[in-house]
Order: sequence, then C-alpha cells, then structure tokens
Amino acid sequence: MRDDAKWTFDCEPTLTDTQVLEFCREGYLLLRGVVPEEINRRTCDYLEGKLPSNPSFIPAGMAVADLERIRGTHEPSGIFLEDWFLEHVLLHPQLTGAMRSLLGRNVGLPVLASHHAIECPQPAQAWHQDADHVFGPELNFVEVFYFPQDTPAELGPTELVAGTHIASTQRQSDQGGVLCDGPAGTLGIHHQSILHRRGESTAAGMRHMMKYNYWRTVPPARDWIAEPDFDLRTADYGGHNLARYAAHMFYWLSGRADQFRIIGGQGWPWSSANQIGPSYGFGRKTGFLPDWRKISQDGYAT
Ligand SMILES: [Fe+2]
Repeated sequence: MRDDAKWTFDCEPTLTDTQVLEFCREGYLLLRGVVPEEINRRTCDYLEGKLPSNPSFIPAGMAVADLERIRGTHEPSGIFLEDWFLEHVLLHPQLTGAMRSLLGRNVGLPVLASHHAIECPQPAQAWHQDADHVFGPELNFVEVFYFPQDTPAELGPTELVAGTHIASTQRQSDQGGVLCDGPAGTLGIHHQSILHRRGESTAAGMRHMMKYNYWRTVPPARDWIAEPDFDLRTADYGGHNLARYAAHMFYWLSGRADQFRIIGGQGWPWSSANQIGPSYGFGRKTGFLPDWRKISQDGYAT
C-alpha cells in the first residue's frame, strides 16, 4: 500500500458520489474515535517527550540531530517516521479511503506536522480562515486533524462552520459552529479554507491536536464509488450562494470542470424541494462560472 521512496499510498476509494458531494458542500467529514487507544496514548507520550523516537528511516538530506531538533518544536514532523504512527494514524483505513476518494490515486502523504498543545481552560479563538488558503473549485490537498485524547466540548475541540470553504466569511465570536468533539482517536477531514477556531474550553487539562495535509499527485477523475441512482441533475448541491460552488467543485473533482456552466437564478444546480420538475439549465455548454474571487457584483464570472 505504501511506497517509501515516493511517500505516497494507494488504496480503494471508500466515499460514494453522495459523500464526495457532501464534502464539496459542507467542507468537512468527521471520523470519531477511530484510532486505537494504544496509539492515542503513544502519540500523547511522544508529543510530551515521554517516548523515545524510533524513526523507520532518515529522510534524504536530514540527520538524526535534525529530527531531534524538530521534535521539540510545534512542528514535530518526525512523528510521521514512527512505524506505529504511519500505520495506525496516517494510513488509517477509513481515512485513506476518504483521501483516495477526494485526491485520486497515489496520494501524497504529509510532510509537515503542526502540533497545537493547549493547557485548558481557555477562551475560544477568534474565527478565522488559515493562512495561505485559496478559494476555487480545485482540491489539490486536504487537511486532517487528529485528537489523541478524549476531546469533549469542555476541552475546546475545533469548531467549524459548514459551507464556509468557498468564500471569505466573517462571524461574531458569540456565534457557534459545528463542534468537532469526540473520543480519543477522532480524525477530522476538512477543506483548508474552512472558517474555524479552537472552541472555548472549560475543563482543566492538556489538549493535543495535530494537523497535516494530504496531497493530490494525479489529475482529478470521478473514480470514487459510483452510485447507480446518483443523478447530477437532481443532486443536493446546497442553497443560494453555495450550490454553484459545490457543483463546480464536484465537476472539477470529476475531471469535467471544462464542461461546467450555469445560467444563474433558480437554474441548476440550485433547486427547491417544492418545485414540480427538475431545475432548468442542466448540461448547458455556454453560460457562467461562479465567481470564486468575488470580483463581480452579481457573483458570476464569465
Ligand atoms: Fe486555524
């Protein structure tokens, strides 16, 4: 499954058309409590310096001393070289199946770890979209976070706002979001552009959180699990100011971005449960593209 020389993996996709579209629309997926307890404990011990490091190999251009140095930083990427972390966290079957579905074959494994260690209780962070995000239909990498300890609401799990990966978004601090709480071993998958924050914590204790990216190495193709009754014409792309972006992303992921055009208004991909027939505008060869950069007032690029 893993190719050391290329630092990639391949496996069968596990997401269906509906689940891939859900990611395009919502911008996240959660796998609660999936990493084994023994591995969660080892991860905490490693991050707290209680476990000696035992890298499976030394990357080209690096020395053992380099790994020791970065272990003490907020970017302890050497943990990826530990066999147990690679096998049970980076290559967790549910996670890799999702990554394979979203990023295609030969997924690039993470090369940089961010470790967010917080002594709770703490107030909530300000809502933000992380540095260097881009808005667009392309999905060239996906961000993953990992909670190696039980992370209930009281321990300030990541909080995010569904559907905010498509545009710059403001939010008041007293407005909540989706709480990514879960038992130890919870993995979150999200679009790097999504609006998020560290939630407020009220309990005492250390909250570890690791964050890293998986990378696309092949052009997009619709090679995840096909659902026979999935219909592009009537699928749920979301509401106003969301549907056109989710649909554009789904087309890009399908390798068909060049075939995507919309006519605007109530036309496809927008729809309502109360309409008596499918939306007009599906399959048009001419029309508009969504204006991801929000340069035009009407929200459509040419
Ligand atoms: Fe952040």
